[in-house]
Amino acid sequence: MSVSAPLQLTLALIKPDISAAPMLVRAVFARLSAAEFRVVRSRRLTLSRPSAEALYAEHAGRFFHNRLVTFVSSGPLWALVLARPDAIAAWRRLMGPTKVYRAVYSHPESLRAVYGLTDTRNGLHGSDSPQSAAREIEFFFPEFDAEGWLDRERAAQE
Ligand code: TYD
Ligand code: MG
Repeated sequence: MSVSAPLQLTLALIKPDISAAPMLVRAVFARLSAAEFRVVRSRRLTLSRPSAEALYAEHAGRFFHNRLVTFVSSGPLWALVLARPDAIAAWRRLMGPTKVYRAVYSHPESLRAVYGLTDTRNGLHGSDSPQSAAREIEFFFPEFDAEGWLDRERAAQE
């Protein structure tokens, strides 16, 4: 990533497996800060099953959909709006591959390698495109004006 990449927002979730353990949540926040992410908004909440289904509608019909929805609605999670140059790709790199066994072998420092348990209980979520970041930020923070926030930050940096 170039240091001049434009400031970007992404949506991160600390899923119920990690969120149940305050020590692990602190460890994730420490890694975020070391990687120069700013936490712009944060919310601890528990998703209802219908909300979890809406969030993961793109995966409806996949073999893992039921256990994914059951898991993410099983307890409190943290929803975060993260800001950084190239935030979407940078957060996905810090999380590591979706499947924990792959993360362990190919990216042993990544958060999913260190804190993930299984393919489903993999600790973290990150938006995968600017479109999904916009949709997911709106899903968790409907009152947050993401475009206005970015405009003000970019103006302040000029
Ligand atoms: P996906 O969007 O493919 O991965 P990512 O979270 O890296 O964007 O899948 C969403 C979640 O679904 C994933 O984080 C965990 C769960 N999942 C499984 O339980 N088994 C699987 O085989 C896959 C691909 C995903
Ligand atoms: Mg995904």
